[in-house]
Amino acid sequence: MSRTTPASSRRTALLSACTVLVAAAGMAAVLPTGAQAASLGCSVNYQTNDWGSGFTATVTVSNAGTSAIDGWALTYDYSGNQQLSSGWNGAWSQSGRTVTVKNLDWNRTIAPGGSVSPGGQFTYSGTNTAPTAFAVNGTACTGPGAPSPTGSPSPSPTTTPPPSGGKADNPFAGAKLYVNPEWKAKAAAEPGGSAVANTSTSVWLDRIAAINGVDGGMGVRAHLDEALRQAGGQPLAINFVIYDLPGRDCSALASNGELGPTELDRYKSQFIDPIATIFADPKYASLRITTVVEIDSLPNLVTNSGGRPTATPACDTMKANGNYVNGVGYALSKFGPISNVYNYIDVGHHGWLGWDDNFGATADLLAQAAQASGSKLEYVTGFISNTANYGALKEPYYSIDDSVNGTSVRQSKWVDWNRYVDELSYAQAFRSRLVTAGFSPGIGMVIDTSRNGWGGAARPSGPAAKTSVDAYVNGSRTDRRIHLGNWCNQAGAGLGERPKAAPEPGIDAYLWVKPPGESDGASSAIPNNEGKGFDRMCDPTYTGNVRNGNSMSGALGNAPLAGHWFSAQFQELLKNADPAL
Ligand code: BGC
Repeated sequence: MSRTTPASSRRTALLSACTVLVAAAGMAAVLPTGAQAASLGCSVNYQTNDWGSGFTATVTVSNAGTSAIDGWALTYDYSGNQQLSSGWNGAWSQSGRTVTVKNLDWNRTIAPGGSVSPGGQFTYSGTNTAPTAFAVNGTACTGPGAPSPTGSPSPSPTTTPPPSGGKADNPFAGAKLYVNPEWKAKAAAEPGGSAVANTSTSVWLDRIAAINGVDGGMGVRAHLDEALRQAGGQPLAINFVIYDLPGRDCSALASNGELGPTELDRYKSQFIDPIATIFADPKYASLRITTVVEIDSLPNLVTNSGGRPTATPACDTMKANGNYVNGVGYALSKFGPISNVYNYIDVGHHGWLGWDDNFGATADLLAQAAQASGSKLEYVTGFISNTANYGALKEPYYSIDDSVNGTSVRQSKWVDWNRYVDELSYAQAFRSRLVTAGFSPGIGMVIDTSRNGWGGAARPSGPAAKTSVDAYVNGSRTDRRIHLGNWCNQAGAGLGERPKAAPEPGIDAYLWVKPPGESDGASSAIPNNEGKGFDRMCDPTYTGNVRNGNSMSGALGNAPLAGHWFSAQFQELLKNADPAL
């Protein structure tokens, strides 16, 4: 999955004559409904994503009065050394400890019942205590139901209260992460595997039968029941990959699926509807259920159709019949309204969409899909990059801004005019572009770090000499693939960052979405009843195609079908883990 193409949180403040509330620290402070309903005034909801030395804050100001607020200036004070770096959805400034946010032209009016959500990014050291008092146009927001400014302590910045009356901004923040017992058992049975067996990995729903469990395995209810047990009354996030679109995996063969290109109705009624019914069971309401909706599909429509050299007939078909767009929209429309379900859509990875002609077009198509089949943009919590791919999270020894003797690294064979050299910079940039495409400024990104560690003996220990751009890039890069477009069972790869909430600005979590040790595809043709084909990108003797610069595939040999356990790969990932185990 995840093919390449060659070069070529939050919520609000207010008012006119108001008062009201709040304060809260932490990742998600949600105001009591009663406060919002107060006839006088305003309410403020302050939320942060904190990574220890910095944070983003979203301050949602709601007009709880009966007349519009025309022009607003929000003010509040920090008690520590929080320092503003940048802001959005408002004109942000800071003087000493006082932060002021003024409206922009487009959001100067807050209708009764309406809100605005300016956000800012800050650095700090020491303790990041949330502000306890807010004012709009000089009038304090201190209303009914508000905690007294000197009252009970704010929640810890690393704890997110369970959503009350709304979704958490970042569902992973302050939550335990579900450990899939089936993956855990396979990992623990491997030599050395117990070091990682308790790590959270995602649950893949890759066929209709997976809903009830394949061959006696755990189905969706079994996983959710186990998730309740693991939660023990605490917040817990469990991630499902929703992966059964009609005509699945149109640019490759390894993960073709069970539904033909025209079977959208079956996808809706036999796959999405039953999953949504289970997710909506009140028994599971305390869980944070996250979804990764249909990886690879929408990016494939952008890069692998429409007369490009990389186009495939199958992707042209799926573009023409609209079933990817409508299928994704339908899934979002069913899961989005469920109050404890959080949708993330796939944005490929930097080695696929990091070129100018792919990047914006994909963001716009995602916005289209998120409004198809009855879906709304607000049903999307965020996006995921690098699912089942191998792109390095951070390239520590070179950057896209480097040049060698006046020649940009973008001109190197490896970078090949891409705008990014790693997944973190790509995901953060994509987040901004998605906001431009119409998504909420509160969206967050997830990065699959299951197999992008690139540690081990072949890892460079510093930048290479600047003798030529190619020598510099090739000697400095930690991603040791033969070509950035290689995606199947990559030799030399290692386990990446362990799953973690809010690790960087704009990033909701690092997750292990592709379960390490599960194959990307068979290295030779294997008859099967899963719809899976044989893709030569998984054959180590293959000399490549236009999508990988006609390079060797870099795949490990003797691989089983996609999704099946591949012990040799698991061992390779353990050996090359970075951070090391
Ligand atoms: C396969 C799926 C599998 C998933 C996770 C995909 O490549 O097509 O069947 O569930 O990987 O391993």
